[in-house]
Amino acid sequence: MIETVFDKAGFSSIVREWRRRYDAMTFDEHQQIYSRLWATNLPPQRHCAPDVFLDWLDLEDAVVAEVGGWDGWLAEEALADKPIATWVNWEVCREAAAEGAARMGDWRYGIETSSWIWEADLSMFDVLVASHSLEHMSKAHRALLFEAAREIPQIYVQLPENMHERSAAATHVGGDTVGDVLREITQAGWETVNLRRLDKETIFLGKRK
Ligand SMILES: C[S@@+](CC[C@H](N)C(=O)[O-])C[C@H]1O[C@@H](n2cnc3c(N)ncnc32)[C@H](O)[C@@H]1O
Repeated sequence: MIETVFDKAGFSSIVREWRRRYDAMTFDEHQQIYSRLWATNLPPQRHCAPDVFLDWLDLEDAVVAEVGGWDGWLAEEALADKPIATWVNWEVCREAAAEGAARMGDWRYGIETSSWIWEADLSMFDVLVASHSLEHMSKAHRALLFEAAREIPQIYVQLPENMHERSAAATHVGGDTVGDVLREITQAGWETVNLRRLDKETIFLGKRK
């Protein structure tokens, strides 16, 4: 399947095919797409608002699970500022994650690039961080994530307002709105502690009831 995707010419066609076949692709196929598209075509990703993240969360001794943390730049800032115990970044783009881990060399920080986050036991984590990553997943994948994270007490999320658009450049799966994802999160058992709706994005902190 993956070779058929790559046979199509150009970035936009590959993104369209990736979106169309998203749920049918294996982890390895997704990872190959990310290696071919993201590692080589996209600029460094820096979307989170670290000041809000650091202000909203008590991170003392926290064990943090992040999904889609790119090269770990948020972890790097947070670990420099707060007495966090451990931070693990599950990242589908192996190249970005490996580069960041080598740069940081912090024993409290680890990357997971060989399987989806929902395949891991997440029961020991205090907070799940997803900054500008949930819009790159299908609804089915988010459901798997939220189920695997059912014992994580807190969730911190940032989402772009245009996440429902299917533009190739944005590489969003598309279709679902910010409101849809916030509903999925509350239906999964986290209630709103803090919500900031800005022009271009929404920032959300939830805690388990
Ligand atoms: C727009 S970037 C955001 C990066 C960073 N969190 C930030 O806020 O700057 C989206 C990231 O999510 C990653 N990603 C997308 N889907 C993923 C998945 N299912 N599991 C792990 N990482 C994923 C991408 O490789 C990319 O690093």
